[in-house]
Amino acid sequence: MIVGIGTDIVEIVRIGKMIERHGDLFLNRVFTAEEVRYCQRRKNSFQHYAGRWAAKEAVMKTFGTGFTRGIHWQDIEVVSKRSGEPVIRIHGGAEDLAQKLRIDQVMITISHCRAYATATAIAFRNSDIKESATPIETESAETDRSEETSPE
Ligand SMILES: CC(C)(COP(=O)(O)OP(=O)(O)OC[C@H]1O[C@@H](n2cnc3c(N)ncnc32)[C@H](O)[C@@H]1OP(=O)(O)O)[C@@H](O)C(=O)NCCC(=O)NCCS
Repeated sequence: MIVGIGTDIVEIVRIGKMIERHGDLFLNRVFTAEEVRYCQRRKNSFQHYAGRWAAKEAVMKTFGTGFTRGIHWQDIEVVSKRSGEPVIRIHGGAEDLAQKLRIDQVMITISHCRAYATATAIAFRNSDIKESATPIETESAETDRSEETSPE
């Protein structure tokens, strides 16, 4: 069952300015090491950072609370599958809140153009998830080698 939806749009130049002004202090407060790694590898890193910023805001909207006390930016992480599809991992205070709200999974979609990045999130209560829904992956694109290794 869908229990929440959320969306956000952000000006890429605004995120770019914050990165230029505050550098690692900003990056390490908002993004996980894996998110930084993903964005830094790309040609226009600001648009990928902005997409992740929008994703975090969109996920918080699915909770109906916005960013409240005890929830940090890094608690909501965007992990990219090999295909490029983003998935949400929730940690810390956000994980506690999700449990309280009985939210088991949040799906995300991200898009960006030159000026803006946008994201839309949908929160589910697991017992009602249709089989076609993509489960949250626990391994990142970089670390997931399950397809390459034989079980024997
Ligand atoms: C996925 C695709 C629809 C994205 O559309 P786009 O107009 O190029 O770009 P948008 O700005 O709208 O979206 C970009 C976001 O789409 C998401 N995305 C990428 N691949 C995706 C996929 N397979 N499924 C769902 N979402 C995907 C990502 O979140 C990406 O942003 P991020 O890299 O910052 O995480 C398009 O790139 C596509 O059809 N790709 C096919 C596969 C391909 O060409 N791969 C190239 C590998 S080099």
